[in-house]
Amino acid sequence: MDLLLGIDIGTSSTKAVLIDPAGRVVGMESAAHPISQPRPGWSEQAPEDWWGSTVAAVRGALAKGRARGEGVRGIGLSGQMHGSVLLGKESLEGDGRTARALRPAILWNDQRTGAECREIEAAVGGRPALVGLVGNAALTGFTLPKVLWVREHEPEVFGRVAKFLLPKDYIRLRMTGRAATDVGDAAGTLLLDVDRRVWSERMIRQFRLEAGMLPAIFESAEVTGELTAWAAAELGLRAGTPVVGGSGDNQSGAVGAGVVSAGLVLCALGTSGVMFAHSDAPRKDGPGRLHTMPAATGDARSRTGWCNTGVMLSAAGSLHWCRETLFPTESYERLLAEAAGTRPGCEGLSFMPYLTGERCPYADPLARGGWVGLTSRHRRGHLVRAVLEGVTFAMAQILDLVRGIGVPVETVRLGGGGAKSELWRQMIADVCGSGVELPNTEEGPAFGAGLMAGVGVGVWPSVASACGATIAVAERREPGPAAAEYRAARGAYDGLYPALRGWFGSDRES
Ligand code: XUL
Repeated sequence: MDLLLGIDIGTSSTKAVLIDPAGRVVGMESAAHPISQPRPGWSEQAPEDWWGSTVAAVRGALAKGRARGEGVRGIGLSGQMHGSVLLGKESLEGDGRTARALRPAILWNDQRTGAECREIEAAVGGRPALVGLVGNAALTGFTLPKVLWVREHEPEVFGRVAKFLLPKDYIRLRMTGRAATDVGDAAGTLLLDVDRRVWSERMIRQFRLEAGMLPAIFESAEVTGELTAWAAAELGLRAGTPVVGGSGDNQSGAVGAGVVSAGLVLCALGTSGVMFAHSDAPRKDGPGRLHTMPAATGDARSRTGWCNTGVMLSAAGSLHWCRETLFPTESYERLLAEAAGTRPGCEGLSFMPYLTGERCPYADPLARGGWVGLTSRHRRGHLVRAVLEGVTFAMAQILDLVRGIGVPVETVRLGGGGAKSELWRQMIADVCGSGVELPNTEEGPAFGAGLMAGVGVGVWPSVASACGATIAVAERREPGPAAAEYRAARGAYDGLYPALRGWFGSDRES
C-alpha cells in the first residue's frame, strides 16, 4: 500500500505519523528527547538527540502500522520553529551521516537575546521598519538574535559556522545530505522577505552575514531531496524516497486541521494558545504583535498563502495549573461540569492567564496572573469557569488584532487538548462571534506534514485539495444567547491589564 510519512520534531518529543491516501492514520509513534536549561532563561537541545528520536518514532510508527518501509512514497517534516543549529563545513560534506552541530541548538523559548533584539530593531530604523522588511518584530525566540548572540559571546564557535539550520532542517540534512528549508520556517529567522518568499539581501548585508550561511529555500510541498542509502537503512525506509519542504509546527498544524483558505482561523488550545489566520496576501501588523509568515500551502507551481499568528503563553496550561495546584484529586470532567453549572461572566469574577508572562496581545514578560473580583459566593466551579473565560477573552483579543489588519475571519477551527471540552468550544463561538468547527483529525502538525508529502509526490494536486480529500468537520457550533452575557465580562477583562501594568512593573521596563 502507498503511504505518506509526516514527522514533527517537537520540543519534548518527535512524532511520526503514517497516513494512507484517504488520510487514514495507519501508524503513529512518539519518542522523547531531552531539553536542558544550563542557566535561568536558557533553553537548549542537542540536535543529535532529535535524530535519535526521529529514528525511534519512524521505526515505531512502521511497527505499529505493520507497514513496510518500501511502501512509504514521500516524507514531510514539521518542527519547533526558530531554533539555531550551527554547523561547520565538515558537516556539509558527504551524505549527512556525520553532520554534528558546533554547539547545542538554542531553542524558541530561550530568553537570552534581549540586547540583540533591541540592536536588530535599532539597526533597521525601529520595529515598524523591521516588520515592513521581514513581517515580524525581533523577539528573543527568533533565530537571528541567537546567531548574533553566538557571534558576540562565542566568537570561536561563530568563526567555524558554515551554515545555520532550523531544527527540522537538521533532520533533513541527516536524511538527504541537503541543507534546505521551507518559506514558513525561514520566516521565523527574521531573515526572510515574507512578501517575495526569498532571503532578504538587505538583512543579510545589514547584519554582516554571508548568504552562503543560509540554506536553500523551497515551498512546503516541493521536493527538497531524497533519502540517502545510509539514512534509509537507519530509518527502515527506501533509499531515494522524496522529502518535501514541510514547515514550522504552527503552519503544519494549520494544514493538519484544514486551515488553508482565507476566512479560516485555527485556534489551538494547547499549553500555549495559538490563533492562526490564513490569508491570501502578506498583511503586516506594524507594532509586531502578530507574526506574518508564509503559510504551508505553496508547492512547486504555486507560491501563495500567508498567515498571521498570535501566541498567548498559558491557555490549556492555565487550566492544568489550576487543577494541579488547587484541586489535584478532582478529574477534569468533574471540574468542567461544575464550571458549566455557573453563569457566563462568573458573577463578576475575572481571571488573567499571564502565569508565565505574556507574548500576545501584550508582549510583557512581567505580566502576572490572578483572579480579580472574588466574593464569598464564589465556588470552585466559578474559579474554573473564570480560567476558561480569561483564556478565551485573551484569544478573542488576538482575533481582534487579526481582524484589525484586514484579515477576514469567518470560521474558527479548534485544535489542541482544550478543544475536547464542549463548554470551551461553545464559549469560543459565543465570545469570538463566529462559527466554530471541530475537525475530525487530532494528529496536528505531523499529519499536515504527511499531506504536504502527498502533494510533493503527486497524490494530490495542491495542499488545499489534500485537505479537502482527507479532513472533514466533525462538529459545528454557532454563537448562542450567552454571547450577550459575555460582552460585559469581556469589557471588564479588557480593562485589567492596562490597570495592572504599573503594578507588574511593566511601565518601568518599557
Ligand atoms: C512559534 C513558536 C512555537 C514553536 C514551538 O512562533 O515559537 O510555536 O514553534 O512549538
